[in-house]
Amino acid sequence: MPIPWTPDSWKQRPAAQQPVYEDPRELAETLAVLRRLPPLVTSWEVDRLRSQIAAAQRGDAWVLQGGDCAESFADCNADSIASKIKVLLQMSLVLIFRSKRPIVRIGRIAGQYAKPRSQDREVRGDVELPSYRGDLINRAAFTVDHRRHDPQLLLRGYERAALTLNFIRALSEGGFADLHHPENWDLDFVSSSPEYDQYRRLVDSLRDALTFIDVISERPLRELGRVDFYTSHEALHLHFEQALTRKSIRGTGWYNLGTHFPWIGERTRAVGGAHVELMRGIKNPIGVKIGPQATPDELLDLLRRLNPDDEPGRMTLIHRMGSQQIDSALPPLLHAIRESGRAVLWVCDPMHGNTVATETGHKTRRFDDILEELRQAFAIHRQCGSWLGGVHLELTGENVTECVGGSRGLTEADLESAYNSFCDPRLNYEQSMEIAFAIADRISAK
Ligand code: PEP
Ligand code: CO
Repeated sequence: MPIPWTPDSWKQRPAAQQPVYEDPRELAETLAVLRRLPPLVTSWEVDRLRSQIAAAQRGDAWVLQGGDCAESFADCNADSIASKIKVLLQMSLVLIFRSKRPIVRIGRIAGQYAKPRSQDREVRGDVELPSYRGDLINRAAFTVDHRRHDPQLLLRGYERAALTLNFIRALSEGGFADLHHPENWDLDFVSSSPEYDQYRRLVDSLRDALTFIDVISERPLRELGRVDFYTSHEALHLHFEQALTRKSIRGTGWYNLGTHFPWIGERTRAVGGAHVELMRGIKNPIGVKIGPQATPDELLDLLRRLNPDDEPGRMTLIHRMGSQQIDSALPPLLHAIRESGRAVLWVCDPMHGNTVATETGHKTRRFDDILEELRQAFAIHRQCGSWLGGVHLELTGENVTECVGGSRGLTEADLESAYNSFCDPRLNYEQSMEIAFAIADRISAK
């Protein structure tokens, strides 16, 4: 039975994947500081995103969500942030051009600092320590001190998120994102890649089109100097998320103002669990990750609990089945939702069902498996009379070697050279662009 919602009613529910702090007083003091700090986003922005997701639910827009599996505090620097924004902007340009639809850009950024783990503890030799759970909770180095769950990191995480968002806002408002100058978004090392020529041609025609419109409209298209860019992260750490859950100053209810788009992970989406309870009371559009074990009844229960009034734009279901399982796992879910008549946005995450371990102990994903899951997702949605409205990717603008395959043919041996992820393997810049080109034409066939 539902209980009355309050920002802390989640405490009456079982909470999976939470840190354990040695000193409850230190945690309480830190949370009190956090609660007094200003929000990172506004309720107006959140409402605007919700209406854009509603448009994507109707097939009038498409969502591109991407970024690191786990952001690290050390990567809170200009190059790393700018290259993530660049790759997402470039991908969105390809998608807009080919699909002729507005693209809603959402980064896994400015707060993606907490990770669910399958094991609470990690063993190396005869030493056993708490697992690394993301920079918001503890530190990656394998020592007692680094692995301690440290409440101060909540403040450091809030600050890094604010610094990141500040830079993103400056980039997306200023000349960097000006569509008249997409050449600003070029990344150096790709000029020899197969996608580069296609991308250059696209940029040239865009510039011609804009020049034409500027000339006939006799004034520059000011609005094109800026782009919308939204943030998202897994709403995993309940105390942290609660501290950023605020009542809007214009009286429109409670919002998570730490991010535009929080999502609930596959491991924490139990309908009677604490994560669903906290997310139930906020106005943000929210995502829920859906793995191959999910049943139609579970999904319908979740929708009833999280969106009792079936409000447009509120619910995004992000399926992450794996290329081997999507054809059996997805259709029953699509049918059930279709029959219920409920408004949801379906998004495909082709990453999390396709993680494999190499013999050398690296986690990787094969580019072909990722593409195959995407291909099947488009086909299955079409067969089931449902609309695939977005993609959710783990990617970086940098030249990492974490996923194998792609047109440059990265092999397992290449993984050694630039495996920088703190968690799951990400598509590098070229692989991300390849995905954008590969899916852009499929979107247009509504
Ligand atoms: C993730 O998105 O990094 C993640 C842990 O995903 P999932 O909840 O789908 O396993
Ligand atoms: Co991940």
